[in-house]
Amino acid sequence: MPFRPGIHGSSTAVETDSTALWRKRKYSRDRICTGCYLKKNGRYVTLCPSIPGNCDMQTPDAFSRAESAARFLLTQTPLKPRLGLVLGSGLGSFADELSEAVRVPYTAIPFFPRATAVGHAGQMVLGRVDEVAVAAMQGRVHLYEGYSAVEVAFPVRVFGRMGIPAVILTNAAGGINLEYKQGALVVIKDHINLQGQNPLVGPNDDRFGERFPDMTQAYSKQYREIARRAAERLGKNLSEGVYAALAGPSYETPAEIRYLRTIGADLVGMSTTPEVIAARHMGIAVLAISCVTNMAAGILDKPLSYLEVFETAERVRGDFVALLKAIIADIAADIQP
Ligand code: HPA
Repeated sequence: MPFRPGIHGSSTAVETDSTALWRKRKYSRDRICTGCYLKKNGRYVTLCPSIPGNCDMQTPDAFSRAESAARFLLTQTPLKPRLGLVLGSGLGSFADELSEAVRVPYTAIPFFPRATAVGHAGQMVLGRVDEVAVAAMQGRVHLYEGYSAVEVAFPVRVFGRMGIPAVILTNAAGGINLEYKQGALVVIKDHINLQGQNPLVGPNDDRFGERFPDMTQAYSKQYREIARRAAERLGKNLSEGVYAALAGPSYETPAEIRYLRTIGADLVGMSTTPEVIAARHMGIAVLAISCVTNMAAGILDKPLSYLEVFETAERVRGDFVALLKAIIADIAADIQP
């Protein structure tokens, strides 16, 4: 297993002969000892304090890691967040709208993965949207950055351990359905997971949830209806669609898009499904919204570019913020303690 600097929240790790030897012997994705997370200058770093090869500390399991991160975040704010938000590519600016905001870089949160993708700021903003206390992630991590599905789903598990009962996940997606226009906001009603990974693979930890979680109502019908009504009030069009998740990072070929359309996909993207699966495993209610930042490969006679993704996300920023605010106001009644 190659050493992946900073993957568990370290940005200041320094290689020394002894740490290099230690990681060679000790490092593996699921064999990190608690002592490897030392707080140095306010950040968690991954230097093991023990003599190389002699580290006998216990590995914290995924549940304990989520619990540590959750407790840490709850010490950063007097608020008790009731809603988790994951703000995808170019959509992070919603978190700038929060009142009573506290910003916590992912690098400061124990065990939290670092966001490396363009347009993903990599900080958690704890604050309020009107009366509702929220925890908003400005940026997420993806499989294509080299993270496992377990790591990608970790932040949602942290939300769960913070006592958060509902999440709104957002993403940038390619439009497969020809009725969509670039810039459209689409509520996800179901997904097709083609990422070849699932965050629940491995021994089941019953503290998160049961072995075989039901996915027939993965995307809350009630919240989808709330989103539809909120859009109606704003005089905006809001479609629903099926999201196909691929690992990326290459965009799809036109043949792959034709295939995805044939199997029933309306949207395509590289995120969200691991988070949804982990959320449903924990019984967290999910609403997910895609911004169609581009029409999928082969639909228009031009190549795809991530610049177009960000330009479109920036263009719809106002509509997106207004819709999220309206939805959160309506969801509030359901999630207040
Ligand atoms: N494909 C996959 N992911 C994406 C796309 C796309 O066309 N647009 C934004 N994210």
